[in-house]
Amino acid sequence: MIKTVKLTYASLNCRNVRKMVDYYENVIGLTVVESTNGDTFYLSTGLEHHNLVLTSSENSELSTIGFHVSADENLVEIQKNLKAQGIQSELKHDFQPGVHELLELEDPDGYKVHLLQKIDMPAPGFKKNSICPQKLGHIALGSLNPELATEFYMKVLNFKHTDRIGERAIFLTCNSDHHVLNISKFGHKMMHHIAFELKDSSHHTLSADFLSQNGKALSWGPFRHTAGHNLASYHHDPELNVIELFTDMDQFIADLNYFDPRPWHAELPMRPKVWENNCTWYDNFEKNITDYVLDKVQLTK
Ligand SMILES: [Fe+2]
Repeated sequence: MIKTVKLTYASLNCRNVRKMVDYYENVIGLTVVESTNGDTFYLSTGLEHHNLVLTSSENSELSTIGFHVSADENLVEIQKNLKAQGIQSELKHDFQPGVHELLELEDPDGYKVHLLQKIDMPAPGFKKNSICPQKLGHIALGSLNPELATEFYMKVLNFKHTDRIGERAIFLTCNSDHHVLNISKFGHKMMHHIAFELKDSSHHTLSADFLSQNGKALSWGPFRHTAGHNLASYHHDPELNVIELFTDMDQFIADLNYFDPRPWHAELPMRPKVWENNCTWYDNFEKNITDYVLDKVQLTK
């Protein structure tokens, strides 16, 4: 069994890579550690060689997700085990800067998955004059076949499932975070969003102000989700990828099958469950504020 332990990086193809680098460097606050050929840029949140790779391309899309596997694992043995399951993979050496050895395979939707044990840690540190998240937290995928994708991540990469939102979304983790991936049914392959973890709830206010000062409007939130209870806000990067900034994500103790208790949990212990909606602060999150105003007009006639 492969012991996947951490989401390490995501690679995005970009139509205007310079504009994207400028945004992720100067608004989000990552640090460019290295670039190759002037068209691929490796950005770090603060420790590892890269947590985000931006590559110039004709298309704007997620291409690759990189995961750390346990230091006890052996990539050659993993490759043999994958082959025994009928899954093709390729061992690559010095395929990208900062990672000497990785195993590349594809998930059922065709996203490249990189498994690695080590990545260089130049530790450029955390910036001060930008949002400056603590880490790359999770990726939300829209899948052509969510059942197949979920089976792949659970059976092949040893992810566990925590919550669901109806039949729409399933949340998967490979460590204590409530989710490292979530997979939704949208009828087509897409990256729904990519999420960075902030320091604390006050960081949401500072981030929203900083985005506003840089001409970026929030498109959703901040509010507290049901599944994961993360306090989240959403906006768009220059190529309209949805970016989530979050804090307070539930911490899952898999062996006990419950989440570390928090004051905002409506049930104690809070265990994995199926939620009806995805927001704790609104009883009807889809409803527009104008509808509520009109409701009062109707009720007081
Ligand atoms: Fe998210």
